[in-house]
Amino acid sequence: MKKCFISLLLLLPLQCLAWGSKGHATVADIAWQFLTPEARQQVDMLLKSYPFESLQQAANWPDHIRKQDEFKHTGNWHYVNLPRDAKYYLASRDCAQGCVVKAFNLMLQQLSNAADIKKRAEALAFVIHFVGDMHQPLHVSYADDKGGNSYPLIFKGETVNLHYYWDTLVLSEDPDDAALASSLIREMPDAQIVDWREDDAQVWIDESRQITAQIYANAPDKVTDIMLQQDRQLAHQRLIKAGVRLAFQLNQTLKLHSIAKAHSSQ
Ligand code: ADE
Ligand code: ZN
Ligand code: ZN
Repeated sequence: MKKCFISLLLLLPLQCLAWGSKGHATVADIAWQFLTPEARQQVDMLLKSYPFESLQQAANWPDHIRKQDEFKHTGNWHYVNLPRDAKYYLASRDCAQGCVVKAFNLMLQQLSNAADIKKRAEALAFVIHFVGDMHQPLHVSYADDKGGNSYPLIFKGETVNLHYYWDTLVLSEDPDDAALASSLIREMPDAQIVDWREDDAQVWIDESRQITAQIYANAPDKVTDIMLQQDRQLAHQRLIKAGVRLAFQLNQTLKLHSIAKAHSSQ
């Protein structure tokens, strides 16, 4: 919270939402390494057209604009809340008013089909961001404490909240996004890339749902050193999965886009 407060004072209130900016940037960095040359070219073109300064900036942009009038409707696009005893996500029950799962599918379509290139660039930023959000366990969580935002937790002697701990503080001992991304890629066994490729958003949020249930079953009131190291490992696992899965989604969607474009120009 203190960090949020300081960044508010600096007029940079952006670190307080979703995976902190380091988490989203790390997911984007990992994904970049697994993009095909064709997908990289399209991503570069879309970033320039908006313009976004960088892939990392695009990855964090949805948190920066969610309070603006034009984007108020995207406020609940970042998470999904389930009943505490739910065994699975149910769109009719959990996403009737909108949630990250529907928003992600909508933005994938917009990335693939929109006629306006700026709309495709915005969709790219949302897609990158939402794959990250769906892998942050507390973004698949419970409404009664606002996804852990009103769950107090002691971290290094200060009162923070559970959500902010998982967005940001859990990565506070890690290096910057580029160094974190390369160490996570280096440590990853190749076989896992293939395992993760087939998974879709239902699988991703189901994994987050289970992790969240475990976090709440342990009912932490204070982050011990051991707990921080365990949670760091878990957060790293979520980031590498998110990055690899994002790359597969982008490789597929951007390939579909160029096939559709080639057809329409024949
Ligand atoms: N607000 C309410 N629930 C939330 C969640 N699960 N994640 C982020 N913000 C929220
Ligand atoms: Zn968050
Ligand atoms: Zn978010």
